Amino acid sequence: MLRTHTCGELRKPQVGESVTLSGWVHKRRNFGELVFVDLRDRYGRVQVVFNKETGADFAVVDTLKYEYVIQVEGIVVDRDIEAVNNDLKTGEIEIHASTVKVLNTSKPMPFEIFETDKGEEDEELRLKYRYLELRRERLKNNIILRTKMVKAIRDFMEKADFLEIETPILVKGTPEGSREYLVPSRLYPGNFYVLPQSPQQMKQLLMVAGLDKYFQIARCFRDEDQRGDRQPEFTQLDMEMSFVEESDVMQLNESLMLDLIKTFAPEKKVKEVPFPQMTYAYAMNTYGSDKPDIRFDLPLVDISEKVKDSEFSVFKSAVEQGGVVKALCVKGGAQFSRKDIDRLTDVAKIYKAKGLAYLFVEEAGVRSPIAKFFSEEELQVIIKESGAEVGDIVLFAADTWDIACDALGHVRLAVADQLGLRDDSVFALCWVTDFPMFEHDETMGFQAKHHPFTSPKNIEDMETSPEKALAKAYDMVLNGNEIGGGSIRIHDKGMQKRVFDVLGISDEQAQARFGHMLEAFEYGAPPHGGIAWGIDRLVMLFAGEPNIREVIAFPKDQKAKDLMLGAPSVMPHEQLQELSIAIDIKE
Ligand code: AMO
Ligand code: AMP
Repeated sequence: MLRTHTCGELRKPQVGESVTLSGWVHKRRNFGELVFVDLRDRYGRVQVVFNKETGADFAVVDTLKYEYVIQVEGIVVDRDIEAVNNDLKTGEIEIHASTVKVLNTSKPMPFEIFETDKGEEDEELRLKYRYLELRRERLKNNIILRTKMVKAIRDFMEKADFLEIETPILVKGTPEGSREYLVPSRLYPGNFYVLPQSPQQMKQLLMVAGLDKYFQIARCFRDEDQRGDRQPEFTQLDMEMSFVEESDVMQLNESLMLDLIKTFAPEKKVKEVPFPQMTYAYAMNTYGSDKPDIRFDLPLVDISEKVKDSEFSVFKSAVEQGGVVKALCVKGGAQFSRKDIDRLTDVAKIYKAKGLAYLFVEEAGVRSPIAKFFSEEELQVIIKESGAEVGDIVLFAADTWDIACDALGHVRLAVADQLGLRDDSVFALCWVTDFPMFEHDETMGFQAKHHPFTSPKNIEDMETSPEKALAKAYDMVLNGNEIGGGSIRIHDKGMQKRVFDVLGISDEQAQARFGHMLEAFEYGAPPHGGIAWGIDRLVMLFAGEPNIREVIAFPKDQKAKDLMLGAPSVMPHEQLQELSIAIDIKE
């Protein structure tokens, strides 16, 4: 037997027992006749004492180095009171070893694993040796948390009568917005499978099949640009339900979220239950984001009407051209330095704002480079409208509605960071609803904002003014992160065709790409809807990590590379030939 116990489980009641332990040499202190080794495994650490008198072979003991894998036999011994180590769960006992065996040696670590445990080293190195980094307490705990959360999700879904159904990974193109990964078919030269961006169409077809409630912990693949909260492959809790409206899906998901918080983050204050609901328009107008962080207020205010006739051409022309002027009042912000303002202006510019006008409200009056363009009366109106008082600063963005909201929304977050308003002890959840059906793209025309299977809310003038059409779509947001998104679907062929028309998808194209969906809708498709959560993002927030890579065992780097495996990689010519693929790299 390689072990009788793990390194984390021995306590006082086992004193006197003979045990066999296996694990890694975590720490080693050598006092000549006496050698102490902290032995480690997933479950914890325990102190092993090698003493010439207790029999361990010192020819072996003397060779032990960090991260060697060893096996020891010995007796569990009570430690003296003054020798108790409160940092270890096993700190009241130690093992007096009688034998020691090296099961495997180890080269010196490519980076110090345990001294910092913070992951401050070069990320490239850490990802290359991810299996070593995973020995760290923090990453290990993240992986354990993830396992437990997924298990809890499965239990919840099973109790709610959902069936866990696997759907294929080799599918046909399901254009939902992002670029797809292609898989060449050997049997059908020139043909490709694609990896699913999500099981969207499959789960809808499962509803047509009458399976009523489906869920899956599903891997999704998207060839899109990487960010801290995005990976090319990631995991969703994907679900679909028949005979439901928005409120049914939202209620179930709210219960699931509260259940998870109760079990895995009981210390968090949940800001509001039931989770507040706001429309997309409200969220954008008030928080400058469709995933608002509502742990704090700092609302944006629209002052377009009040400044459209002013002398300040930046504001005036923005409104004249159909844009808006948004204001953000920061309480106590009159303390901001020139540097603070420059920093916030940089933030605004990242999000395409042309500048960030500002106005200090001080005892002595208004101080601002743009004050000269306004009459005293106009200044008072701006101050009143934005809710400012003496001691505050008001920041402005004048632009198209999208840019003004988005830029000032990011300024709002930067201000909150600076003032410490993003309270980590709070979980503020909300639903954002009534998303636009379509977004307009200069080159592509109208595109589905969620995906083309989303049911519209107001269908009367969908064709004449698509930009006004709203969707039966909803996102769940946690502390400014989009945790999940879903919608009530179209289940009617005629309606699906109308939406394809707006998207500029011809009958022929629709048939070629989505023929199976349109056909399925003709065989008694029930009304249905669903949602998908980003499991990686969820666990990231529960683990208090800044990045989803920290909760994924083997993540890709920022450039979609797997540094450990060395993927993607060049393929041998014969293999490509078999697939009838010729490589033609454009410089
Ligand atoms: P959506 O595209 O909004 O919806 O995705 C659902 C959730 O998945 C997470 N997510 C990601 N996580 C990590 N890396 C990524 N690249 C990434 N992209 C998305 C987000 C997001 O909220 N089929 C629909 C769902 C539905 O309508 O039921 C879908 O995939 O947390
Ligand atoms: P300017 O007239 O370019 O010197 O700008 C005067 C002030 O207005 C500066 O503080 C700019 O940052 C700001 N500003 C310029 N363009 C905009 C804009 N579109 N929205 C908000 N502020 C702006």
